[in-house]
Amino acid sequence: MKFHYLKHFIKHYFTATLIDVLHSPFVFTLYQTCIKKQKDLTAFNEIENIRSQLLENKSIITYTDLGAGSNLLSKNIEKSISQLAKAHLKPARIAQIIHCIVLNYKYRNVIELGTSLGVTSSYIASALKQNFESNEVNFTTIEGSSAIKQIANEQFTSLKLSDYINSVEGNFNEQLEPVLNSYKNVDVFFVDGNHTYEATMKYFEKALPFAHNDSVFIFDDIYWSSGMTKAWEEIKQHSKVHQTVDLFFIGLVYFRTEQIRQHFKLRVI
Ligand SMILES: C[S@@+](CC[C@H](N)C(=O)[O-])C[C@H]1O[C@@H](n2cnc3c(N)ncnc32)[C@H](O)[C@@H]1O
Repeated sequence: MKFHYLKHFIKHYFTATLIDVLHSPFVFTLYQTCIKKQKDLTAFNEIENIRSQLLENKSIITYTDLGAGSNLLSKNIEKSISQLAKAHLKPARIAQIIHCIVLNYKYRNVIELGTSLGVTSSYIASALKQNFESNEVNFTTIEGSSAIKQIANEQFTSLKLSDYINSVEGNFNEQLEPVLNSYKNVDVFFVDGNHTYEATMKYFEKALPFAHNDSVFIFDDIYWSSGMTKAWEEIKQHSKVHQTVDLFFIGLVYFRTEQIRQHFKLRVI
């Protein structure tokens, strides 16, 4: 897994498109507004303080892992919150790109698979809160572990974001369908858990009928394993997918039929 990741990281670094040769007005604007490093990060101080507290929290929690590496030994795992935060949380830079996409494109119907400690969920909810009242949005985040979800909910309360987040507990395999059926369509579908080829393809196919022309699907860790990279390559080739933007850490999938089919690789570091 590590070799696969490193090999693709180096490849991405040398093959990513430079922005001045980008021949897509849509992706150029996306880069300028959201992907390029933002200068003023003060708006994110509160959430980043929460991240720092989680990273220092040595309290032990017991939880069940339903993700990619899970097996019988994945029941009743004991870890400190700090260890969990180190392993699970998306880097601030990536969470800020997701925040910016939700904010700038005024998305309001969002689903996240994999709440963990709630840091990226908080970035998403704070973008929704900047644009809308809580009754104008529908943001559901699903987490399989009750102990982890409880900690996330504490963060949502302290950030005054609870009204913007519908936090669902359960296995994605069981919860995704009823959650999707409670939506007319989905603007942002963010898959950040259970990183296997089979699960990723299954979640993509289930969510696809809920996508509209301007939706974006976001897949985390597309180079985490050969299975994830295989899923990413297949998603790119799907007939409904018109543009993709590969940021190495995450992949963005667009369905905009007014544009020709194009696949971009952009550097975020
Ligand atoms: C990488 S973490 C999510 C990180 C979070 N989105 C963030 O950026 O702050 C993945 C989470 O998905 C959960 N998870 C993995 N597989 C799952 C499944 N099949 N059903 C429910 N939850 C699952 C794990 O418990 C874990 O908390």
